[in-house]
Amino acid sequence: MTKTGIQQGPMVLVSDLGHRFTGTGMLYQHVAFTVAAGQTLAVTGPSGSGKSTLLSLVAGWDRPTCGRVDLQQGARVCWVFQNPYGPNRRTVLDIAAFPLVAQEEPRPQAEEEARGVLDQFGLLGRARAHFADLSGGEAQRLMLVRAICSRPDILLVDEPTAQLDMRSARQVADSLRLLAGRGMAVIIATHDPAVAQVCDLTLDLEDYLPEGGTGDEAG
Ligand SMILES: Nc1ncnc2c1ncn2[C@@H]1O[C@H](COP(=O)(O)OP(=O)(O)OP(=O)(O)O)[C@@H](O)[C@H]1O
Ligand SMILES: [Mg+2]
Repeated sequence: MTKTGIQQGPMVLVSDLGHRFTGTGMLYQHVAFTVAAGQTLAVTGPSGSGKSTLLSLVAGWDRPTCGRVDLQQGARVCWVFQNPYGPNRRTVLDIAAFPLVAQEEPRPQAEEEARGVLDQFGLLGRARAHFADLSGGEAQRLMLVRAICSRPDILLVDEPTAQLDMRSARQVADSLRLLAGRGMAVIIATHDPAVAQVCDLTLDLEDYLPEGGTGDEAG
């Protein structure tokens, strides 16, 4: 990732990207896409195709083997991990408001803003519940609320429905629709068609498999 960053245009610009780890073949090559502020992109592909890896390349955690990832200058990146996590004895409202309080928003305003986002994600009625008492779907939605309250420019979401039964997965997918239009560039790694369906753009990693196989079978 360049340190200078994009001055204008998309939030995320990926060009001719290819990646392999030591011990893996080329996962994909010639991957190219842009995500503008306010757009959502679903990255799909089977298990092991490199969806989570793509998120880590965008985040700059891994350096791509080929090609480049450019982010808009000064863009703040937030990542919602696959497994919801939170302190068991904290309330939903505390957890949601924390990123705002940490950005020195006065607590009343922080709580008001957090309540607004909780409401959008169907969690306002659970504001006083402890994290430990949430269902899997509620906990996953809280992670999205918390990420939004961090006010990122780029939001990376890894498998938001993987742990959920169909009904909760559907609720989370519906909530993901709300991410569009908040001005963030959102990239969601998913194998769930219901999630891909609510995104503006789709990138199927199977379309970028290296020619002549993965290289695993060579030599
Ligand atoms: N740090 C690493 N070092 C070596 N190999 C890795 C590393 N991270 C991932 N891999 C390998 O790269 C491949 C892609 O992994 P990745 O986790 O990105 O796939 P995925 O599409 O997210 O899969 P899933 O749907 O199961 O989450 C896998 O074969 C994985 O074992
Ligand atoms: Mg993954």
